[in-house]
Amino acid sequence: MTALRICVLGGTGFVGHALVKRLAADGHAVTVLSRNLALHPDRLLPPGVVVRETDVYDPDGLQAQFTGMDAVINLVGILNEAGDSGRGFRRAHVELTQFVVSACRQARVPRLLHMSSLNAGRGRSHYLKSRGDAEAVVKASGMAWTIFEPSVIFGIDDGLFARFGRLLKLAPVLPLACASAKFAPVFVGDVVEAFRRALHDRSAIGEVFELYGPEVFSLADIVRMTARQLGLRRWVLPLPDVLGRLQALACDFIPGKPFSSDNFRSLQVDSVGGIDGLHRLGIAPTPVAQVLPDILGDAGDKQSRYARFRAHRGR
Ligand SMILES: NC(=O)c1ccc[n+]([C@@H]2O[C@H](COP(=O)([O-])OP(=O)(O)OC[C@H]3O[C@@H](n4cnc5c(N)ncnc54)[C@H](OP(=O)(O)O)[C@@H]3O)[C@@H](O)[C@H]2O)c1
Repeated sequence: MTALRICVLGGTGFVGHALVKRLAADGHAVTVLSRNLALHPDRLLPPGVVVRETDVYDPDGLQAQFTGMDAVINLVGILNEAGDSGRGFRRAHVELTQFVVSACRQARVPRLLHMSSLNAGRGRSHYLKSRGDAEAVVKASGMAWTIFEPSVIFGIDDGLFARFGRLLKLAPVLPLACASAKFAPVFVGDVVEAFRRALHDRSAIGEVFELYGPEVFSLADIVRMTARQLGLRRWVLPLPDVLGRLQALACDFIPGKPFSSDNFRSLQVDSVGGIDGLHRLGIAPTPVAQVLPDILGDAGDKQSRYARFRAHRGR
């Protein structure tokens, strides 16, 4: 495997952390650009990875950081914005992608891997609309690009099982909007493997890979599975849409937006795939049950869960 110089945006996040660790272990020279490292105290990147605090919205700065790179990976994404105008989504997804593409072209970076989402461009949410618009920018870039469209991603410290696990510990009843929305959760290790393979596979250039797991669950299934795994007796209360909309509207005003009107709109489109990208890349998908005990199991703190997980997965 040729060692590459790779620059990653969004490398401090849940997926980024796993991907950067893997790319560094493969011997690549990885540089992570972060707006503010202090925001990610739990996500220490491995030694050898260069981390630079940078204004990623500064086109000249980006071009300087990209100079000499063989590939750029853009993992930046947000689930919520301030307000509900779509401006925040446009900025983080579309404008940033425009800056990235333009800086790549000026710095003569040949390869771009771009993280998107299943259903990009579909439905009425600002999230999915901006994802579709960002994909259009990448496809028109003239670069050697690859786009990834995952369903919801699971793994240790995820925003799915781990998050519902925390919520379920708070109260005996969980009123749930969009309870019948469908997902095909994909394991973070499989997502990382998809990026890794695409990086070295020229046939992945100009391709869009949907990344989804082997099982389809409703949101209510996911929450009930989480409660079962934690040994909690909880009542999941599916809300009719009118109440779900009201819940979302109320959450729009809670700092950090645990749920939002835009989340409600994006959940109207089931996050299940059509053309299996993992299969196309020769990756056998990991079922949820194989990893759930490691995400939620009670065998101690996060460190020991990681140790068990690594031993178990041989990674
Ligand atoms: N997790 C999932 O279930 C899932 C499903 C489908 C698609 N995706 C997509 O996969 C990508 C990675 O997901 P993730 O779960 O790893 O996300 P994450 O943990 O939230 O990390 C995203 C990273 O992007 C950077 N970022 C956040 N907001 C930004 C903004 N407004 N402008 C510029 N940079 C910003 C942050 O890095 P700094 O603070 O260091 O700059 C952050 O570490 C995202 O594009 C996400 O939308 C994720």
